[in-house]
Amino acid sequence: MNLKGKDFLKLLDYTSEEIEYLINLAADLKKKKKSGIPHDILKGKNIALIFEKTSTRTRCSFEVAARDLGMGVTYLDPGASQIGRKESIADTARVLSSIYDGIEYRGFGQEIVEELAKYSTVPVWNGLTNEFHPTQILADFLTIKEKFGRLKGINFVYLGDARYNMGNSLMVGCAKMGLNFTACAPEKYFPDTDLVDECRKIAKETGAKIIFEEDPVKATKNADVIYTDVWVSMGEPELVWAERINDLSDYQVTKKIMKNAGEDAIFMHCLPSYHDKKTEIGKRICDKFNRDSVEVTNEVFESEQSVVFQEAENRMHTIKAVMYATL
Ligand code: CP
Ligand code: NVA
Repeated sequence: MNLKGKDFLKLLDYTSEEIEYLINLAADLKKKKKSGIPHDILKGKNIALIFEKTSTRTRCSFEVAARDLGMGVTYLDPGASQIGRKESIADTARVLSSIYDGIEYRGFGQEIVEELAKYSTVPVWNGLTNEFHPTQILADFLTIKEKFGRLKGINFVYLGDARYNMGNSLMVGCAKMGLNFTACAPEKYFPDTDLVDECRKIAKETGAKIIFEEDPVKATKNADVIYTDVWVSMGEPELVWAERINDLSDYQVTKKIMKNAGEDAIFMHCLPSYHDKKTEIGKRICDKFNRDSVEVTNEVFESEQSVVFQEAENRMHTIKAVMYATL
């Protein structure tokens, strides 16, 4: 499998075999890290990390993975570079790719990261856009494989706003890897119909099912994985909270939902999560709308069925695999 020089912008650009290869490579790199086997095979290389939105997991994963591989890292936050305000994406791409061996980008529209890749002569990795979050899906699928020993045939149910980066990318990932994907939300939160059509075509070849269901009890019956994400994403205005709380409250992941799925089901979340009132935004929203938690109850988040921290750790191993394979 040769992925050298390839960008990692969205899973649609990768075959099922390539995605499987990256997940297996991540598992191998995880073993190496745990047993203290050095794997600094990219010594002498350098990468740039551009973040136009905030991050904990993605930034830390890129930084630690790069260092484990022997590389140097430069972090550029929105205030610390000329990007967008004084310098176009095309010019930034040409400058950075003459200095660095790889570029990570987290920001707004998918077209920005695509533009960066178009003008860059080195691999560009998508660290989250409004539309897609592909490195997250690799971590999620590695976690599912660790839990169930397989991906094919897994019943994967996503509750909540399924038309944003997580819902879109998970649907593509499930279609590519043969998991049965159910999006459960009111109809207006279902992914874009063009993307659904594309995923249905892929699913025909992999045996995946793509299902849309408004009833959370029907959707989660016999699910292996219950997945959710925040109801308001980075970059969205605060005023959409009222509408989201109103529309999505019946889709909160509760003990009742987990029971309906069955005791072997796992709970997943890309994080960060508003599962209690211990964050500034979480507290403000909970107080305003008179609740204790938002997209998932604290009981489920802290339960035995929750694999959210294993999932978070796997961000690092899978991001490492992407850099290892493409550099
Ligand atoms: N899941 C995820 O991308 O987390 P960060 O926003 O902390 O990077
Ligand atoms: N949908 C979330 C994902 C965070 C990892 C957001 O874009 O804010």
